[in-house]
Amino acid sequence: MRRPRVLFSLALVAGLLLPQHPDASPVPGVIAVGPGGATLGYLSKVAVEPQGSELTFVNGDELAHTVTAVDRDPDGKPLFSGNALPGTTSVIAGVDRLKAGSYDFVCSFHPNMAGTLLVQGGSGGVGAAKPRFQTPLKMPEVLTGSRITLTAEQADVPLLPGRPATTMYTFNGSWPGPTIRRPVGAKTTVTVVNKLPSAFGSISLHVHGDHHSSADDGRPDSDLVATGKAKTYTLGLKDGGKAERAAFSFYHDHRMDETGRNNWYGLNGMFITDDPKEKRLGLPTGAYDLPLTVADRSFDDASQLTDPFPTASDATSPTTPFTGPYAPPGDATAGTRTLVNGTFLPYQLTANRRYRVRLLNASNFSSYDFHFSDGRPMVQVGNGAALLSKPVTRTDVLLGPAERADVVVDFSNALGKNVVLESIARTDGSLTGIGSQSTPLMQFRVTKRAPQSAAVPAALVPLPALDIPTAPTMTWVLGLGANTGGTHWTVNGQPYEDGRTDAAITLGSTQRWAIVNASTITHYVHLHEEAWRTVTRNGQPPPAWEAGLQDTWRLDPGDVVEVAARVTDFTGPFLIHCHMLDHEDHGLMATFTVLKPGQQAPAHKHPTLLDLTSRYLCTVPKESRT
Ligand code: C2O
Ligand code: CU
Repeated sequence: MRRPRVLFSLALVAGLLLPQHPDASPVPGVIAVGPGGATLGYLSKVAVEPQGSELTFVNGDELAHTVTAVDRDPDGKPLFSGNALPGTTSVIAGVDRLKAGSYDFVCSFHPNMAGTLLVQGGSGGVGAAKPRFQTPLKMPEVLTGSRITLTAEQADVPLLPGRPATTMYTFNGSWPGPTIRRPVGAKTTVTVVNKLPSAFGSISLHVHGDHHSSADDGRPDSDLVATGKAKTYTLGLKDGGKAERAAFSFYHDHRMDETGRNNWYGLNGMFITDDPKEKRLGLPTGAYDLPLTVADRSFDDASQLTDPFPTASDATSPTTPFTGPYAPPGDATAGTRTLVNGTFLPYQLTANRRYRVRLLNASNFSSYDFHFSDGRPMVQVGNGAALLSKPVTRTDVLLGPAERADVVVDFSNALGKNVVLESIARTDGSLTGIGSQSTPLMQFRVTKRAPQSAAVPAALVPLPALDIPTAPTMTWVLGLGANTGGTHWTVNGQPYEDGRTDAAITLGSTQRWAIVNASTITHYVHLHEEAWRTVTRNGQPPPAWEAGLQDTWRLDPGDVVEVAARVTDFTGPFLIHCHMLDHEDHGLMATFTVLKPGQQAPAHKHPTLLDLTSRYLCTVPKESRT
């Protein structure tokens, strides 16, 4: 165990100073978290504080935690926020300027941890400001040609209203990158040209949710696009010789150990495919089809992105490369502001009719439970990988990193109103999950009249037939591993290693996989290559919104999800991994290799220490962690 001494003495201090868990009366000026905090929450759910004094945060847990106000100042920043590394204390910035009142706070890494700060007495001070929606929603440029070029380049992108632009590493100078929009079945090439500063290194492109060859999968450690070079990815947009189903995919960099960093700096966008046969469904189209990419970032005072990623010094040995305060399970890259299509708190002038809203959670780590401020229902028609067979009406939709939801929202009764799309704390009663962020996202200003010309039919796209094996053909267990001086995430006991085949499966076979979360933190697990149907969730039939084809699943601690698919068209290595990018970059990834019948799994040689340490070298300047 790391830092046993500090932990022991802090636990002692916390034990003397603080009331017993869960809910005795709070000690003024102190908020504390003990071992198991991500599950158990703060030791006392209430903190009290005379106005004008400081709040001290005592972290006696093995994970980093924050105390972050839910309410925001006029600039949109949390009213107070502070981070304590494992076994340390810190002063929460911003508390001493608050006016008297009651303020909810959460841990921004594990927002299921929630508490309330009561500031007592006094007058004056700063209080919560209403969110200001000042900037029109941006739509990324749409590219529709069969030969697309994405040039990775540094660009200054306006993200925060009224503030200097933010330097990012983008595709084609914008963030999110251009939206690629193609008909299903129409062969498409995407050429990635790497014009980033050489210190950024090589990149790759993965079209998450699409069915394509291993060579076109944006492999993390092979066929990378080096500085000054280009690579063309070929996507047939077909499955089994026929046009693929319509979908909206998430394209992003997938470089080994740097996927988190490369996405944070801007290398991602949306790839939408349209099926002309779906026109008959009458879902909203054109200006009434809104792709929304939702992602959080943290900024310094000059509006530049913070760099919350570990450096080369964190790489110490081949099997335990991750040490230091953010080593697993303590990793967490959560931003303090959540942006929609690259703008903080945008608004959209909206007509009084139905819209199709394509929600993509492109955050590195955070989950959002999407909700409308007036409780307006969303009719979910799909989850990005495909349309559902039947629509499902919901008032909130929880999405982890890389998850999508395709929903239809009716604003016909809202003329003259402003409706806010927000993320709220998880409503499903899960006590052990990682929670979801509480934050406003964007405003729909319903100012325009338009005829209602779209409805959602009772039947959408039927699930293709599949003969599902009665028992799992493979089990994947997600866990945490420790070794001399370090920790890493594991799949079936091992951290990811390039070139190692963790499961060999036969082309043409039908697989039924069980995914088991044996760790104490939520994971969002993504399977490359096929869209899978969810057979069971914790032994039960899945909820209606999980009853279609999908590529990413939430697994709270202890959850078991079984999925099934037929393996078609392509041989070679593909990935299973957690899409919380800190987890992916810190080991929670494995390889399944698709073989022709009778073919042998490839041999594999372990890399040397030199291979591994050179791989971690990263020269992007480090600033502060969120
Ligand atoms: Cu969205 Cu393996 O990735
Ligand atoms: Cu994870």
